[in-house]
Amino acid sequence: MNVVIVGAQWGDEGKGKVVDLYSAQAEYIVRYQGGNNAGHTLVVNGRKTVLHLIPSGILHPGKICLIANGVVFDPAVFFEEVESLRASNAFSAEPHEAVRVSERAHVILPYHRLLDKLREERAAKGKIGTTVRGIGPAYEDKVARRGIQVVDLLRPELLRAKLAKAIEEKNVLLKHHFGAPEIEIAPLYEECLALGERLKPYIADVRSLLAQALEQERPILFEGAQGTLLDVDHGTYPYVTSSNTVSGGALTGSGLGPGFPVRVIGITKAYTTRVGTGPFPTEIEHTEAETAREIRRIGSEFGATTGRPRRVGWLDLVALKYAVEVNGITGLALMKADILDGFDHVKLCTSYRLGGNTVYDLPSCVEDLERVEPAYEVLPGWPKYDRSKVQGIEDLPSELKDYIRTIEEFLKVPVVLMSTGPGREETWIVSDPFQKI
Ligand code: IMP
Repeated sequence: MNVVIVGAQWGDEGKGKVVDLYSAQAEYIVRYQGGNNAGHTLVVNGRKTVLHLIPSGILHPGKICLIANGVVFDPAVFFEEVESLRASNAFSAEPHEAVRVSERAHVILPYHRLLDKLREERAAKGKIGTTVRGIGPAYEDKVARRGIQVVDLLRPELLRAKLAKAIEEKNVLLKHHFGAPEIEIAPLYEECLALGERLKPYIADVRSLLAQALEQERPILFEGAQGTLLDVDHGTYPYVTSSNTVSGGALTGSGLGPGFPVRVIGITKAYTTRVGTGPFPTEIEHTEAETAREIRRIGSEFGATTGRPRRVGWLDLVALKYAVEVNGITGLALMKADILDGFDHVKLCTSYRLGGNTVYDLPSCVEDLERVEPAYEVLPGWPKYDRSKVQGIEDLPSELKDYIRTIEEFLKVPVVLMSTGPGREETWIVSDPFQKI
């Protein structure tokens, strides 16, 4: 069996921890979209590791971690992570035996980061609140057919021609729109050649490796980044990232067709957070400011990539139901319910009010989504409890079990994993998605 992990909210659901746990059963772990805008914080043996680009499965020796074609790849960040993992003795063999990068992945270059920054600075209104890692501009170049792919870094003549094409329009934009210095091709070309040389041992035909893995029935874990509501097609457009974060992205982003056995596990927190701007129906920053502050403090809700405070709100079942549908989620991993321990009450949003009507689906137009008012089911909170006495979900306080049951019944999807802390041991696995039925 193979497993796709997707964020079911606006990212930061705790996917890194679930990937780390499930990696024990997988042989291949694949990043298929996004880039180093992701930030997975893992705590293993009490040691905190933050990974932005390399799949979190790297912390398990003997696994093959693949960065597939759908990713936008920043070589500088990649080498930083390789060196930091090497320093903490994470590799049991040579790093290039554990991590491979697709020839077809698109490269994030300094001008992508620059444009991301200049655009965000310029946008008085309609700021996206990006991570400023150059993700959007790199995907723009990919779709505009002027991107530089990893394989190009190994072809000097082709690279020079492609770089010249890529920077032609950018220099006009930089000079005349942003009043910024133009890009010089010569140093960029030299930098790219040097990166290609260094990257050579890591570059592979990732699609072909995965096709073989499927053929040999080796379990594959697809590690999604960001969350469903940040998907460029299905998210809260335009306040989204530039890739397909939904489970379908695992196919186009890795070069596999549908039809292989797979389960889709949606990761959700017991409440909701969002970083960056854009609609967030259950946000409580202004309505229940004290509760929002408490959740942010107890849950350490600050971005792993940018350190920005995350906006906080109650769990939005309307948005989650939507995520279940667009991803084909077969099981849920419920994270951070412990952050709500000891709260007097908790709320679940079960519908929205929009212009005098009750709606049960996520409106497609961002202006409508900005106007909706959440309708809540209010449930009693659960007391703080002694974790050492809990062996499984059945031992949890009854109010927490009710909370979980209400979520499962609304979504018609079972909770297959529950996490109550950052460590591997603070997890209850209800059923293992890698097991064949
Ligand atoms: P970009 O991906 O840097 O272009 O940012 C676009 C939007 O996606 C912004 O709202 C970011 O805050 C959000 N975003 C990107 N990556 C993540 C992530 O890993 N977690 C949460 N939000 C993210």
